[in-house]
Amino acid sequence: MTLVDEGHPGARAVKVWTLQQLDRAAVVPGRVPKSAVQWQRAVANKAELSAGLYERVGGAWGWFDRAAWTDADWAGWANRDNHHLFLGLVEGEICGYVELDQQGPEVEVAFFGLLAEFIGQGLGGWLLSAGLREAWLLPGVERVWVHTCELDAPTALANYQARGLVICDVAIEWRLPLVQGG
Ligand SMILES: CC(C)(COP(=O)(O)OP(=O)(O)OC[C@H]1O[C@@H](n2cnc3c(N)ncnc32)[C@H](O)[C@@H]1OP(=O)(O)O)[C@@H](O)C(=O)NCCC(=O)NCCS
Repeated sequence: MTLVDEGHPGARAVKVWTLQQLDRAAVVPGRVPKSAVQWQRAVANKAELSAGLYERVGGAWGWFDRAAWTDADWAGWANRDNHHLFLGLVEGEICGYVELDQQGPEVEVAFFGLLAEFIGQGLGGWLLSAGLREAWLLPGVERVWVHTCELDAPTALANYQARGLVICDVAIEWRLPLVQGG
């Protein structure tokens, strides 16, 4: 994400929420989805999957801050022991993903989302609660957190709250139109 000065021509004020969870017991399961969904940890090709899903999921929601990343950038991001990528699959097809980044005792839900055709079927709640449970299974975790902003899906904030995350900060960031979201 690129932050710009308040006075920059064309810049837009975007509200950004930080939400957190401090207790694994706080995870609230999502509804049972209409379709059977499988949950899978990605082990092979993490960088390619991460890059592809960032574009396929986030492209519709203005996730542009990594658009210029090279294959080496994606490899540097994904091929680390503290990076964890989980996929949701419906009838063998990827419907969405959760990407976790552990930073000591904290785990960030770095990316999360559904492919457009799978939105609105109960998969978003299910996938997020599965991702949160994975986050709390990592060693030494004391806090799980996420950023979302008003450019994300209109139900994104509600989904995080419904899964037991609590708003701990609200900020305004100034963004240029081509670098919105994330
Ligand atoms: C955010 C996203 C995952 C929600 O997916 P979804 O298919 O709507 O998810 P679900 O149908 O499982 O609903 C999950 C929650 O969203 C909220 N929600 C969904 N539809 C809603 C509606 N029509 N009105 C109000 N809240 C709604 C509810 O909190 C719901 O939880 P509940 O079932 O316990 O009530 C999906 O829109 C998405 O992936 N968007 C693109 C990427 C994105 O914005 N990711 C988050 C970025 S940080």
